[in-house]
Amino acid sequence: MESLSDSDAALAALAWQIELGATEAIGNAPVDRYSLAEKALAARSAPSAQKAPVAPSPARVSAEVDAVAIAKAAVSSVSTLEALRDAMVGFEHCELKKGARNTVFADGIAGSRVMIIGEAPGRDEDREGRPFVGRAGQLLDRMLGAIGLGRAENVYITNVLPWRPPQNRDPKPEEIAMLRPFLERHVALAQPQVLVLMGNISCTAALGRRGITRMRGNWEEALGLPTLPMFHPAYLLRNPQAKREAWADLLSLNARLKDLT
Ligand code: URA
Repeated sequence: MESLSDSDAALAALAWQIELGATEAIGNAPVDRYSLAEKALAARSAPSAQKAPVAPSPARVSAEVDAVAIAKAAVSSVSTLEALRDAMVGFEHCELKKGARNTVFADGIAGSRVMIIGEAPGRDEDREGRPFVGRAGQLLDRMLGAIGLGRAENVYITNVLPWRPPQNRDPKPEEIAMLRPFLERHVALAQPQVLVLMGNISCTAALGRRGITRMRGNWEEALGLPTLPMFHPAYLLRNPQAKREAWADLLSLNARLKDLT
């Protein structure tokens, strides 16, 4: 059999890696994982031996990409909402983006006194590219309308994550952390007077805590602003008995807005 040249062999090895699904380089230097595994085995079977230097695990190798630091750098020079949207569209470090049809940035009137922060787009939002347009969004519109607020007039709406998680699963802590710099900048540029956090995910992102059943209705400070945690409208659709508390929270929001005028 004819032997392959070095470059042909390297190309064939690369094609094989791609076939196996390894389509992304995660480090500048090659890592021979066979020899790492052998060393780890040898170290384990010689307990009295001096501690061998720890080989980088795959997790540590990929952690070389600090997505939070990259996100902070991406927003640091952004001074308009349009530029923030562009920076978000250009951010390639969140896996969710790969499965999403759209980057769902915001809806409503930028500069409104009230900024609503939801969790993440669902199927309808992903399809339309706007937050809160499905059933939960329609309930949100009715809730806001009940105290004279509307997204076409005086509310600005966004989400913690701009990309739909697969099967609407909960966002992972690392996804929330890497998108948080965008959220901080978003709030700073939209300049609302108050924030409303819809559900546990937005409480986690903005306040660093969850526990919406205890937190709802109690004003806090997040990102330098008075902030009201509320039940998420999707929760209210599943638990209509909780609409009573949601109504009390809407009245509290209304009263706060009156105080601030
Ligand atoms: N739920 C959210 O939290 N946000 C949306 O945009 C839609 C549903």
